[in-house]
Amino acid sequence: MPAATHPQTALITGASSGIGATYARRLAARGYNLLLVARNQTRLQQLANELAAAHAVQVEVLTADLSQHDDIEQVTARLRSDRQISLLVNCAGVALYGSLAEADLDSTHNLLQLNLLALTILSSAAAVRFGLAGRGAIINIGSVVALLPERFNAIYSASKAYVLSLSQSLQSELSGTGVQVQVVLPGVTRTEIFERAGSSLARVPASMVMEVEDLVDAALRGFDQGELVTIPSLQDSSEWQALTQARLQLAPNLSHNQPAARYS
Ligand SMILES: NC(=O)c1ccc[n+]([C@@H]2O[C@H](COP(=O)([O-])OP(=O)(O)OC[C@H]3O[C@@H](n4cnc5c(N)ncnc54)[C@H](OP(=O)(O)O)[C@@H]3O)[C@@H](O)[C@H]2O)c1
Repeated sequence: MPAATHPQTALITGASSGIGATYARRLAARGYNLLLVARNQTRLQQLANELAAAHAVQVEVLTADLSQHDDIEQVTARLRSDRQISLLVNCAGVALYGSLAEADLDSTHNLLQLNLLALTILSSAAAVRFGLAGRGAIINIGSVVALLPERFNAIYSASKAYVLSLSQSLQSELSGTGVQVQVVLPGVTRTEIFERAGSSLARVPASMVMEVEDLVDAALRGFDQGELVTIPSLQDSSEWQALTQARLQLAPNLSHNQPAARYS
C-alpha cells in the first residue's frame, strides 16, 4: 500500500488503543486521512491531535459504542455517504475469559454485538461502497484462536472464527471488483485487551508476546503483498497453505445424496 496519491480516508474502529491506534499511526505516516472510531473521546482526540500535527493529515474523531445498534448505524451511515473513505479497518473487539458454562448474558451480548455484528455491518457497507467505486480495501482483525478453539474461551474463539470465515467469503464475493480484503490473525500481542477482560499478560511466556508495532507493521506488509490471510507469527507460510489446500480438497466430498458407508 504505497502512500496515497489522492486524499483517501481510512476508517479505523477501535482506534483509541492497541492495534487500532497503531494502525492509525502507520496509516497517517502513509498519508491517509483518518476517521477514528471508539468510545473514549479523550484518547481519540489526543491521538488525532498528535497525528494531524506529525503527518499533516486530517484526522477526525467519531465517538461510538459499537455494541449499540444506533451507534453501529451512525458509523455505517458515515461509511455509506463519505466517498473519501477507501479503507476500513475493523479492529474494535473485546475478549472474554472463562468457560462457556460461566458465560453471562451481558458480556456475551456485548462481545457478539462488537466482534460480530458491528464488523459485519461495516464490512457490508464498505463492500457496497468500495465495490461501486471499483477500489478500496477492508482489513478485519481476527485472531489465531480462530484456528485453536480448543485452547481459549469458546465465545471469543468462535467470534474470531466468524471473522475469518466472513472475510474469506467476502473476498470471494468481491473478486474482480478491485476491492481488497485482508484478515489479520494476531497471536498474543501486548495491548490492554487482557486487563480489560480481567486477565493479565504476565501469565503468558514472553516468547509468545509480540509488540503491537511489530504486529501492525507485519500485517501491513502482508496487506501490501495482497494476502487474504495474514498470520504475523507464522514463520513458514506453507503450513497455512497446506491447511487451506487440505480444506478445499474436502469440497467434492461434503455433499452427497447418500450417507457415508460407515453410517449405514
Ligand atoms: N492483543 C491481542 O493479543 C490480540 C490477539 C488477537 C486479536 N486481537 C484483536 O485485536 C483487536 C484490537 O484489540 P487490542 O488488542 O488492540 O485491544 P485494546 O487495546 O483493548 O483495543 C480495543 C479497542 O476496541 C475499542 N472498543 C472496545 N469496546 C468498544 C465498543 N463497545 N465500541 C467501540 N469500540 C470499542 C476500544 O476503545 P474504547 O474503549 O475507547 O471504546 C479499543 O480502541 C480486537 O479485535 C482483538 O480481538 C488482539
